[in-house]
Amino acid sequence: MTDRELVERAFSMHRFSYVPYSKFPVGAALLCRDGTVFTGCNVENAAFGSTVCAERTALLKAVSEGHREDWEVLAIAGRGRDYCWPCGSCRQMLYEFAPRLRVLAARGDGEFCAASLEELLPHGFGPGALA
Ligand code: THU
Repeated sequence: MTDRELVERAFSMHRFSYVPYSKFPVGAALLCRDGTVFTGCNVENAAFGSTVCAERTALLKAVSEGHREDWEVLAIAGRGRDYCWPCGSCRQMLYEFAPRLRVLAARGDGEFCAASLEELLPHGFGPGALA
């Protein structure tokens, strides 16, 4: 699967986003080594702090389906003028399972750029830190 195709999968999740408060749909698509793709959308809540980001939805789907050590690329698609990079909480949760994950951040016009999770969360706190 190409980067462009994965970004398109992320955009296609906008239709499921539940965003009555922000009106800002975000979609995510997580590609595993065997070709499996886990998708996600943001799911907001009247208690705003209980909102779940799109990439965290995809992450939880992957882990709960037995995929947690084979993540290759994560695409995140927003509708804004800026690239939709993952929020700090999501960076932390992703770091737990894939510190070297490749992340594609897309903006509303479909353009996207790439970075590694290590670049997005330098000196991250991971499982090794508890050893
Ligand atoms: N959001 C995501 O889904 N992922 C991000 O990386 C940034 C923010 C969502 C959360 C909320 O539903 C909306 O975007 C506005 O913050």
